[in-house]
Amino acid sequence: MIRKGILLAGGTGSRLWPITRAISKQLLPLYNKPMVYYPLSVLMSAGIQDVLVINTPDEQALFKTLLGDGSQWGMRLVYAVQPRPEGIAQAIVIAADFLAGEGCCLILGDNVFYGEGLQGQLQRAEALPNGATVFAYRVAEPRAYGVVTFDASGPAVDIEEKPAHPKSNFAVTGLYFYDCGATKIVQTIQPSARGELEITTLNQRYLHDGTLHVEVLGRGSAWMDTGTPDDLLGAANFIHAIEHRQGLMVGCPEEWALRNGWINHDQLRSSADKLGKTTYSAYLRTLADEAHE
Ligand code: DAU
Repeated sequence: MIRKGILLAGGTGSRLWPITRAISKQLLPLYNKPMVYYPLSVLMSAGIQDVLVINTPDEQALFKTLLGDGSQWGMRLVYAVQPRPEGIAQAIVIAADFLAGEGCCLILGDNVFYGEGLQGQLQRAEALPNGATVFAYRVAEPRAYGVVTFDASGPAVDIEEKPAHPKSNFAVTGLYFYDCGATKIVQTIQPSARGELEITTLNQRYLHDGTLHVEVLGRGSAWMDTGTPDDLLGAANFIHAIEHRQGLMVGCPEEWALRNGWINHDQLRSSADKLGKTTYSAYLRTLADEAHE
C-alpha cells in the first residue's frame, strides 16, 4: 500500500518564458485554479494524504502561501527544495528522509489527467506489493516524451527517453508508483547526456528486473501537456468545456478532501468563506450543501 506522495514542482519553466520568468509554471492558472491543484488532486484521488512538495529555492514560499500545511484538506504537506533542475529522478533522492524506507507515488506538478478510469488504475498501482507502475497514453507526437513499447502479447519490452525514432505512440506520463527499492536504485543512476537523473533510467531498471507494470490510459481519458503556450491554452479550454457542461469541477482539492472523509462540510464551508465571492467558493458552498442533505 502506497501512503506517501511526492509532488515535483521545480524546474525553470523555460519553454514558457517570459510568462515563467517571475513565477513558477505550476502556479500558473489553468482556467480557474492553479495548475498544481490538478496533480495534487490526483494524489488525493489515490487516497494519498502525506505529500512532499519539491520546489526551487526561489519559489517555495509561494507554494507554501498557496498550499500551506495541507490541514485545510485534512492532509499533511511538507516541503523540500531542489537547488537545480537535475532530473525528475532526483526527487526520490531528495525525498529519502520523508519516505523513510516506504514506497511512493511521484507526480509532476504540471501534468493534468482527466477520466473516470484513472481511479481504478491508481488503486491497482497502489495495491501492488512490489515493483513500479507507470501510466502510458497514446499521443500523436511521442518524440517529446518517454516512450514505452509493448510486445504483441501485451507486456512492456522497451522504454526510452525522447527517442528520435519512437517505436510506439505510447508516451510515459508524469505519474509513477515505486516500491521501497526506488530509493536505493536512484543512488546508482548516473546523469544523462543532458546532465539529469532521468526518471526513464529508473523505469528501465524496473523493466529489466521484470517488475515494471504499465497501465495504459484509454482513449476515453485525457493526459494533457502544459509545456507551451498553446498546450496551456488547450488544457484550460478543455477544463473549461468539461466544467461548464457538467457543472462539476476537475482538480478541486476540497472536493476530494470531502469525498475521502478528510474534512467535513463545516470545514468545507469555512474554506469557501476564506475565498470570498468567487465561482470557486460558490462551488464549494454547493458541495457543502449537498453533503449536508
Ligand atoms: O510529462 C511527462 C514527461 O516528463 C515524460 O514523458 C518524460 O519521460 C520525462 O522525462 C519528462 O519529460 P520532460 O523532459 O518534458 O520534463 P521536463 O524537463 O519538462 O520536466 C517536467 C516537469 O518536472 C516540469 O514541470 C519541471 C519539473 N522538473 C523537471 C526536472 C528535470 C523539476 O521540478 N525538476 C527537475 O529537475
